[in-house]
Amino acid sequence: MNIILLGPPGAGKGTQAQRLVERHGMRQLSTGDMLRAAVKAGTPTGLEAKAVMERGELVSDALVSALIGDELDAMGEQTGAIFDGYPRTAAQAETLDGILNARGRKLDHVIELSVDEEALVERITGRFTCASCGKGYHDTFEQPKVPGTCDKCGGTEFKRRPDDNAETVRTRLAEYRAKTAPILPIYEARGIVSKVDGMSPMDEVTAAIETILKA
Ligand code: AP5
Repeated sequence: MNIILLGPPGAGKGTQAQRLVERHGMRQLSTGDMLRAAVKAGTPTGLEAKAVMERGELVSDALVSALIGDELDAMGEQTGAIFDGYPRTAAQAETLDGILNARGRKLDHVIELSVDEEALVERITGRFTCASCGKGYHDTFEQPKVPGTCDKCGGTEFKRRPDDNAETVRTRLAEYRAKTAPILPIYEARGIVSKVDGMSPMDEVTAAIETILKA
């Protein structure tokens, strides 16, 4: 099964993708994570993307589409893909069709996480992750059970993203409204879009997604 999780920054795409990976052994393909890894490694892709990401704008379609193709080629043919943060423009949506066709895959579901934009700034600015295993936490909504220690790996170092500040978040939301939300009708016309209330508690969002996948 191949699915897209679509929604604005902070809607919960990464949170739900991690849960799908744990439950179903699917693979999360997050272009944001891939770009951050490239920035950290100082690759040519990372050097091109760094400043764009820090401004909260979108990096070039060609660059992210190449990353997605490479990741799909590196995973097993039977492993389902969760596209998290991709596609984000009409051009990327078109390219994804070609990428999937060329690999004998098809899109089964596009799950739209609908959210109240005002809540997103709080969600994003309170977010942090374990520096060792990447497990996500939040100052208010999901703290480690033992303060200062990761629930998953026991790590004690945590980090925050440089683009998770209120000003950049507003640019990211504007980019979503202008370039990403308009791709929904492409998938609605194919009858594969399901809407989930991303403002519900995390476990309820997970349950709603599971119901869609079983249908
Ligand atoms: P990317 O990494 O994709 O970031 P994003 O889309 O802005 O999404 P986020 O990771 O911020 O949010 P999320 O929906 O995953 O939320 P999360 O689950 O963490 O992209 C970063 C940048 O890379 C872009 O700005 C762009 O420059 C570049 N880029 C990436 N892909 C690109 C592409 N395809 N094309 C061009 N450029 C690209 O949740 C947020 C917080 O809320 C967490 O703390 C979580 O604990 C909490 N939370 C989650 N769900 C709930 C809930 N139901 N209730 C309460 N709290 C919740």
